[in-house]
Amino acid sequence: MSAPNKQFDPVEVTPLHPDEVARMRDEALGAIAQAGDLEELKQVRLAHLGDRSPLALANKEIGALPPQARKDAGQRVGAARRDVTAVLEERQQVLEAERDERVLVEETVDVTLPWDRRPRGARHPLTTIQERVGDVFVAMGWEIAEGPEAEAEWLNFDALNIGPDHPARTMQDTFFVESEDSGVVLRTHTSPVQARTMLSRKPPIYVICPGRTFRTDELDATHTPVFSQVEGLAVDEGLTMANLKGALDHFASAMFGDGITTRLRPSYFPFTEPSAEMDLQCFVCRGDSVGNPDRPCRTCSSEGWIEWGGCGMVNPRVLVACGVDPDRYTGFAFGMGLERTLMFRHGIEDMHDMVEGDIRFAAAFGMEI
Ligand code: DAH
Repeated sequence: MSAPNKQFDPVEVTPLHPDEVARMRDEALGAIAQAGDLEELKQVRLAHLGDRSPLALANKEIGALPPQARKDAGQRVGAARRDVTAVLEERQQVLEAERDERVLVEETVDVTLPWDRRPRGARHPLTTIQERVGDVFVAMGWEIAEGPEAEAEWLNFDALNIGPDHPARTMQDTFFVESEDSGVVLRTHTSPVQARTMLSRKPPIYVICPGRTFRTDELDATHTPVFSQVEGLAVDEGLTMANLKGALDHFASAMFGDGITTRLRPSYFPFTEPSAEMDLQCFVCRGDSVGNPDRPCRTCSSEGWIEWGGCGMVNPRVLVACGVDPDRYTGFAFGMGLERTLMFRHGIEDMHDMVEGDIRFAAAFGMEI
């Protein structure tokens, strides 16, 4: 700003000369007209109306004029700034409208374009079958129990009456967690959850435990080192094998169709006494293929039954090891492989399909929730 001006008429201060103010105004209006978009207009606003613009600087000169000259100069500069502001606002609106229109066109969504090019994921059928099994038992009032995959050797074997010399404990079957005497293994079955459950709560107990299990098998068409089982355990007063059979029959028909039953064959497991091998009535031929060469059944090889798992009455030694009074309570238990269950429920012939993670395999099962 110039020093206080006591002598000069405003017209003698160059920036306030009417011609100069008009020139600044015209220059600003020209720049506004030239601005092609909002960004350019912003620069024009800064250059012609900002604090350091010629008109703003001229405005500051007014304060240095003698009082009688201020009004005239003030009106002149003020009018020029108002003109520029008004034209700029107008241009701003025009450019905003143009931008909005352009955005509408550019961002148009073509609803006829294909939208499903990225294949959808799918839930693995093993997950779905685990949930389905859980639902069948939860509907009967049972609960879902869980245990860790890296399990205490004692719970995986000893508590279940599988002594130190039992063949199942050898290196050929069991994944031991380092070091070898750590006392921890990858659980070889879901049965340790039986022991965990009895140790942590009091009867009556009705639990089901689907989960992952591990054995040192090679992967082939019918084996995999990581597989899944479902374990069932009921401990209550007065339970008998009739209750076991009833639960299994209900489970079989819920999974494989109305009226499908089970059959028990004497067997041996250290943790049940008596023990049985459990067969599932063939849900394809329902036994019609037996002795009927005209109507062979591939699912059960015309035997009418398919081996499904093991079961029995909980061995009193196991009840005692887990703090349950065997004079008051009895229990039944069962366990079956879920891959196997899935394989014959859906006619899957090769275990590789189950473990390879190809989305096309899982997707074929649809979106069953
Ligand atoms: N744990 C057994 C296995 O892995 C299966 C089994 C058999 C579980 C009998 C049970 C049972 O609960 O009672 O082969």
